[in-house]
Amino acid sequence: MRPCTLATAALFAAALATALPAGAVDSLRNLAQSAGIRFGTAVNVEALNTDAAYARLLAREFNLVTPENALKFSVVQPERGRFDFTQADALVAFAEAHRMQVNGHVLVWDQQLPDWLTQGHFSPDELKAILHEHIRTLVTRYRGRVASWDVAAEAVGEDGKPRETFWSRGIGPDYLALAFRWAHEADPRARLRYNDYGGEGAGAKSDGIYTLVADLRVHRVPIDAVGLQMHVGLNDAPRPEDVRLNMKRLAALGLETDVTEMDVMLQLPADRADLKAQAGLYRAMLQACLAVPLCRSFSTWGATDHYSWIPEFFPGRGAALLFDMDGHPKPAYYSVRRLLRRAAESSPAIE
Ligand code: G3I
Repeated sequence: MRPCTLATAALFAAALATALPAGAVDSLRNLAQSAGIRFGTAVNVEALNTDAAYARLLAREFNLVTPENALKFSVVQPERGRFDFTQADALVAFAEAHRMQVNGHVLVWDQQLPDWLTQGHFSPDELKAILHEHIRTLVTRYRGRVASWDVAAEAVGEDGKPRETFWSRGIGPDYLALAFRWAHEADPRARLRYNDYGGEGAGAKSDGIYTLVADLRVHRVPIDAVGLQMHVGLNDAPRPEDVRLNMKRLAALGLETDVTEMDVMLQLPADRADLKAQAGLYRAMLQACLAVPLCRSFSTWGATDHYSWIPEFFPGRGAALLFDMDGHPKPAYYSVRRLLRRAAESSPAIE
């Protein structure tokens, strides 16, 4: 917990209660902020533009947003040299209107790449030029407006060894260092992150990610943070204590951490016991983040079950998020809010 006296906490809570409209005080974003972290989610921009209730829920509960797909290579550069920022611009504008921080996602990834790129048979030098131009264009455009970037994602295999990707095959193993350097050149003030799944706690992949980012740091590559995605189910989640210890060892490298994409998929139809267990997992992972000073944010991968990616990719599974199909809070929401309220009362952010 972040240090603070009870008297200051009481004064801060009282000030907060008068400063914000009624009902907003107890939102996830306000409680999280006074607990010293940001609370975020991935945004479906099409829904943002068409579903007013969804937009209101985002504005009320979250102060950190990540475009679920709007800044991915195939969306933002569908043809070589033709960039389409329509969706991303809409999200950044919405975020700025609602005092939300934006995390750019994702500059170098092995998925959602356009055919002109994957089927272009480019030489290593040509591919370097294409990736450099892509990163320079995106990061420059949002300089000062996108506070952090997932520069690279999912480059480590389950065995902890570097994963062979389109980029590693096409450019070589130094593509990651190049990507971070190019992003830093384009916006020296942006917070640059490596983001991955399946390595949140202990194990070979976690050790592989640690080794990767430690090596980047040793070679003075500008990396600031590691994102722990936390896509889990009830029976395959990492031990929260292992997550806390992993965050601490990354902090010892000087790296911040974030829980970046949490969802807890359930077998449908979900029953009360499942929803209670889900609430316990969200609470435990949030607790791990709150216990580590350099854990800066906690995000879910989607706000409501209605817009979750899970049912499309895992038929028969779903109900993975804090709000249900109709946007109503679930037990996990209340569990997380209770923990944030307790943390807020004992250690408001001194900013
Ligand atoms: O936009 C097109 C649409 O025009 C087309 O008609 C339709 C049917 O083909 O596809 C639409 O694109 C889909 C896109 O989501 C937008 O809905 C892609 O096919 C689909 O593959 C894509 O899925 C995304 C997935 O990443 C891609 O692997 C999910 O929405 C997104 O939630 C998911 O997010 C990833 C993070 O970026 C990285 N971490 C893991 C996480 C879950 O896989």
